[in-house]
Amino acid sequence: MNRIFSGMQPTRQLHLGNYLGALRNWVALQDQYECVFCVVDLHALTISQEPEVLRNNIREVTAAYIAAGIDPEKNILFNQSFVPAHSELAWILSCYTPLGWLNRMTQFKEKAGKQKDQANLGLYSYPVLMAADILLYKATHVPVGEDQKQHLELARDIAGAFNRHYGQDYFPLPEPQILGEATRVMSLRDGRKKMSKSDESEYSRINMTDDADTIAQKIRKAKTDPEPLPDTVEALEARPEADNLVTIYAALAGETREKVLASFAGAQFSSFKTSLVDLSVAKLAPITRRMNELLADKGEIDRLLRRGGERATALAERHLVEIKDIIGLLRP
Ligand code: AMP
Ligand code: TRP
Repeated sequence: MNRIFSGMQPTRQLHLGNYLGALRNWVALQDQYECVFCVVDLHALTISQEPEVLRNNIREVTAAYIAAGIDPEKNILFNQSFVPAHSELAWILSCYTPLGWLNRMTQFKEKAGKQKDQANLGLYSYPVLMAADILLYKATHVPVGEDQKQHLELARDIAGAFNRHYGQDYFPLPEPQILGEATRVMSLRDGRKKMSKSDESEYSRINMTDDADTIAQKIRKAKTDPEPLPDTVEALEARPEADNLVTIYAALAGETREKVLASFAGAQFSSFKTSLVDLSVAKLAPITRRMNELLADKGEIDRLLRRGGERATALAERHLVEIKDIIGLLRP
């Protein structure tokens, strides 16, 4: 039995990296797997949130999932905090997770920065909650962008530690699915930095809610180098900004970078950018339009989430009872 679990945090707006690195792959996978797609609102609390903004972002991410093509009837689509079993399993799993494993997490080091003592406990234990998300549904596959690879390895280690402790293969070891041309979309301002919701420059990312003019402006302002586009992928290696734009083009077009270079080798960035703007707008505008339609009826989004949450609860509660039995906790 194969089951997918994946999620995104409702922190600020989703961007092209979220779409190409994750969401678009989910859409393609929903026909082959039983899928559970989650808006991980509890993870969002690891950074400071305005209540009204958070509420809106939860709905916006839900709308983005559906607008991108996730079918909320066929798949389970819900928000994490609706199902208390996530928090409960996170506590249980934290008792099988040595601190040494968490100390290795590079995302914590980046986010906590120099003032580790000021970082909150949730930011530190964030990967344990992520492991609980996945293991609660006994998911076998987890489609994510490349930046989540280390967190997934930890989820596998925790599952293995639990299984070994109780001498049974209860949790499947979840496989990361890092798919497509754009597993790590970079900032439009700096080809060595990941495109991220937390970058202070709006020009570093294309948001899924940007209109055509904004997309055009951001791509036109994107950093490049003075050379025309090369004819081999190897020649992109030393040119991170060029590589990023070619990768974005390839991913949006559903082609390889080789194929893109076959069409654009020798072209100046000004003309390549014009094609990239057209392609980006053609791919993103229908999604943005659908997102806005969905967001016009917040009540309906809330109803969808509640229904998805009830379906998720049924599965989660069944597994949690099994887990409690294994551990020696009494059944509720
Ligand atoms: P987050 O916004 O951190 O909740 O990420 C949601 C999903 O988008 C995860 O699967 C990430 O790996 C993926 N993702 C985030 N940023 C990028 C990026 N710049 N390139 C590719 N995938 C990304
Ligand atoms: N940590 C992930 C991110 O920031 C989001 C996430 C939380 C997740 N729980 C998950 C992704 C479970 C996949 C599976 O991108």
